Amino acid sequence: MKELIQKLETTQTLSFDEWIALINGRTEALSEFLFERARFVSTQHYGHDIFVRGLIEFTNYCRNDCYYCGIRRSNANVRRYRLTKEEILSCCRTGYELGFRTFVLQGGEDAWYTDEKMADIISSIKAIYPDCAITLSIGEKSVVSYELFYKYGADRYLLRHETCNALHYASLHPAPLSAANRQQCLRELRRIGYQVGSGFMVGSPGQTAAHLAEDMLFLKELNPHMVGIGPFIPHHDTPFAQELPGTLELTLFMLGLLRLMLPTTLLPSTTALGTIAPDGRELGILAGANVVMPNLSPVANRKDYSLYDNKICTGDEAAECRKCLEKRMERIGYRIVTARGDSLVGSPK
Ligand code: 5AD
Ligand code: FES
Repeated sequence: MKELIQKLETTQTLSFDEWIALINGRTEALSEFLFERARFVSTQHYGHDIFVRGLIEFTNYCRNDCYYCGIRRSNANVRRYRLTKEEILSCCRTGYELGFRTFVLQGGEDAWYTDEKMADIISSIKAIYPDCAITLSIGEKSVVSYELFYKYGADRYLLRHETCNALHYASLHPAPLSAANRQQCLRELRRIGYQVGSGFMVGSPGQTAAHLAEDMLFLKELNPHMVGIGPFIPHHDTPFAQELPGTLELTLFMLGLLRLMLPTTLLPSTTALGTIAPDGRELGILAGANVVMPNLSPVANRKDYSLYDNKICTGDEAAECRKCLEKRMERIGYRIVTARGDSLVGSPK
């Protein structure tokens, strides 16, 4: 197994069968070896710098009904909210003062924010903060919309592919969502010129090592600027309430593998990772991640953006996620930097 990790580090790729063998053959000792190599590769490219992105969860209305997600359309127990442009700009102001140079606008697929409204929000942020990058994470849209947002100043787009396998995808997402359309959106975003982020949940219901192997091969081919992964965590008001969560151990292992496969990609140590273990985000960095995304949403709305149960950073004490993360990173020998934090992955071929 150690040889497979060495092969992965040298060639940055493995076959379908090799991925499965490695994922199924993992042990504690193998993980330690992997993390050591992943840290080496990560620090070669990014040193001990950790990039930060200010996450603004601006709407929890969503037209979709994904079986795993707490803000799915059918969940009548969610108190729905939308932030106004002024509220979003106020989050950006706070964030800029705290040293954020990337703002991530994340939300459900909410038609209330028409293309015109989004374009206005994007261009207003860009006008005030020309030195900042804007990342959108608002789901599947038409190519025309993606092009419009890009024209108005959006730089990056996060859209996790969730799972590459079409059948597995269909077991997590009711129609009309499909794996094919998801992947098509990612290719279009890349073609338009966005820096794109994809990714998946670890331990989603029905996921096998073969699915994860497919995810790795898909990501190798897509070569995204960023890959966001985190454990699946059940939400009590969803059809998956009784399912088991993904494990810390497998999530960290997948992070290490991703770092060796895509040495320069940006890898966030996610909030979900910090939710399943108190030091999850620190362990993510020590497994090869190099990005953290503190919450910048108004504290009053945070509890209502619950994609899964027990999400951290939703209480009053979490008004200062930026400082909290700074201390956490310092404790393990890393430092948060004030920079746009662009990916070293090249633009589209
Ligand atoms: N557990 C973990 N991650 C989740 N996401 C949505 N619901 C859950 C959950 N229950 C992830 C999805 C989505 C991202 C914004 O959050 O992968 O792309
Ligand atoms: Fe939000 Fe620690 S990062 S409270």
